[in-house]
Amino acid sequence: MTEQELKQLLNSMTRKEKVGQTLQVMARFLMENTDDALMGSAAGFGWEKEDFDLAGAAIGTHGAEKLIALQKLQMERQPHGIPMLFMKDIIHGMRTVFPAPIGQGASFDPEMTEKCAQTAAKEAAVSGLHVTFSPMADLVRDARWGRVMESTGEDPYLNSRMTAAMVKGFQGKDLKEPGRVAACVKHFAGYGAAEAGRDYNTAEISEHTFRNAYLPAYEAGIQAGAAMVMTSFNTVDGIPATGNRHLMRDILRDEMGFEGVLISDFAAILETINHGYAEDKADAAKKALEAGVDIDMCTNVYSGNLCRLIEEGKIDERLLDEAVWRILKLKNDLGLFENPFKDADPEKEKEVILCPEHRALAREAAAKSFVLLKNDGVLPVSAEQKIAFIGPYVNRKEMLSSWAVAGEAKDSVTIQEAAQEVFAPERMAYCQGSPLLENGVRLVGFRTEEKMEYSAEECRQMEEEACNAAKEADVVILALGEHYLQSGEAASRAMIEIPEIQMELFRKVSAVNPNVVVVLFSGRPLDLREVSRKARAVLEVWMPGTEGGHAIADVLTGKVNPSGKLSMSFPYCVGQVPVYYNALNTGRPYKEGDEDRFLSRYLDIPNKPLYPFGYGLSYTEFSISELVLDRETLRPGETVTASVTVKNIGKCEGTEVVQLYIRDVAASVARPVKELKDFRKVTLKPGEVETVVFEISEEMLRFYKEGQGRVSEAGEFRVFVGNSSETENQRSFVLIKD
Ligand code: NOJ
Repeated sequence: MTEQELKQLLNSMTRKEKVGQTLQVMARFLMENTDDALMGSAAGFGWEKEDFDLAGAAIGTHGAEKLIALQKLQMERQPHGIPMLFMKDIIHGMRTVFPAPIGQGASFDPEMTEKCAQTAAKEAAVSGLHVTFSPMADLVRDARWGRVMESTGEDPYLNSRMTAAMVKGFQGKDLKEPGRVAACVKHFAGYGAAEAGRDYNTAEISEHTFRNAYLPAYEAGIQAGAAMVMTSFNTVDGIPATGNRHLMRDILRDEMGFEGVLISDFAAILETINHGYAEDKADAAKKALEAGVDIDMCTNVYSGNLCRLIEEGKIDERLLDEAVWRILKLKNDLGLFENPFKDADPEKEKEVILCPEHRALAREAAAKSFVLLKNDGVLPVSAEQKIAFIGPYVNRKEMLSSWAVAGEAKDSVTIQEAAQEVFAPERMAYCQGSPLLENGVRLVGFRTEEKMEYSAEECRQMEEEACNAAKEADVVILALGEHYLQSGEAASRAMIEIPEIQMELFRKVSAVNPNVVVVLFSGRPLDLREVSRKARAVLEVWMPGTEGGHAIADVLTGKVNPSGKLSMSFPYCVGQVPVYYNALNTGRPYKEGDEDRFLSRYLDIPNKPLYPFGYGLSYTEFSISELVLDRETLRPGETVTASVTVKNIGKCEGTEVVQLYIRDVAASVARPVKELKDFRKVTLKPGEVETVVFEISEEMLRFYKEGQGRVSEAGEFRVFVGNSSETENQRSFVLIKD
């Protein structure tokens, strides 16, 4: 449609129809008989028949046949035959599930993440979807928060690169192209700062930190062209984000230049009443529309109030027109007026979904996301060894994550299945060893669970079998970790530990065979003190997705050399949380070993996390030369070149992530001790050498300063280049601004 035709359409719509466009309902309700749905499954939502007929968007269902039928039905119901937008959370893959975003962050590989998003988009598009609620650009610093799993970690720069990569992967250059879906950057803004790591809790962030740490990744997604943004559940400066005019109009729209569709998170407009910000639904509707929220996700707040508010002169109709214009424009950008089914195609769906190329990418992406936390020589294993694979994750298909909502556990390759492809059966043993969780722990998810309750006798037998297998083995691969429902939305944990029942297994097995390699499944950093002390190797595999088993076997055997680096610090223990590398120095900084009493430190634990951001081992070793800067001063418009020589001094080929950090030594506001500014992945054969060169420009030194926007300040900057955030390989230069 031309812009003029689109305008004519908008002008010809009744007010009620326009309000309908701002409503999103669950697709499954629309597929039922309307009366049944309104009386039954949808009864609590307060919708009326007309709302169902006029709703502009639907959430939660995929499948080409279903969505083609639903689109036809809805277009007949609509007076102007306007097609619906079909949306769903396609977070880290559709049916082919890639590693959880926290793991993708650890790959430090935005190109790969872009490919994963593009592949997910292909599967989503043939299944009839138009929009995915991804990427989640929320910065995270608190491992208790369940949604750290959905984030690419604690660093604004890494998150920005990953967010932009996902947006590009989902959307490509033109949303009309086959295999593309619209991306939705979420949750705007600051959702990851939930106090005490408790989901939906208040976020208390200073303007300085908000601008410098939290906003950049959302902005990167918007710069990359994201068609949609989702509001967050939290307050920002005391005002719920979903009704926050300053946040949405001044910052998101005016400063960041976002012109796309802003959708509320699920029931977030309604929740402004609970926040104590809106008096009632009408007030909530008014405040959200005034803030610029275009779509109400799954409540009747807009649909039940906007018409009346406009009639009573309490809201300017132009605000509604503005919202509807943006929604119609997105439909037009997706080409839905010409082709309302877009790529939905039952035949292609069968061909594309879980096809070998998609599985191959999932396998590669998973292996790249793994982080080798410890290895005292026991890995990689060799096919000549006798290996006991023990633990509840050895033959577990459910390793997709709670946000793999279109994934199916039955498609996954387990560790055992993958190991059986490469190891001779006579030298291998496979056993579960223990339940994943204690009896009685109830976790509510959307996928059916395998057996979760075990009798005492069953537990005893499992343990005995595991210990016998461990005694016989040269090495034990112990696959442990969190249940997939222990991370994700509404999955905050105060104790970030491996379930105790599995720790008991770890202790028993370690007692009979010290050669234990822990393969750790988790959606968040965990307290690994005991495991890292006793195990000979620890491989963090996050929630690895459909091809998890193959990828784990690839890494354990050395077919793939691990190269992941932590995207989030692993705290020493929960009492240290939040702990992140890019913190301020304080006036009394503490260095391990300092004797002075009055320093910023704990009496009982170290300041340093157990494993810092950017850390991760390889089966080979790399030496990184002293850092060289090509000049000692920098003026705007110039660049300083920072170079190091990286050499593979080990025995096998491997990939190192060379990281560039900068510190602004003295500024008008205190700046972090280090900030990641760039990184490069280099793959080297044994003995091979490569010079890695980073260009540093004045723009990279800027930070947000109240009242001035992003500025740099003259003075000394320290540059660090190394293979983790703890590198001390540094040189200085001076920024001169006349
Ligand atoms: C609530 C979650 O916070 C959000 O991330 C998600 O996209 C929506 N529900 C829709 O499922």
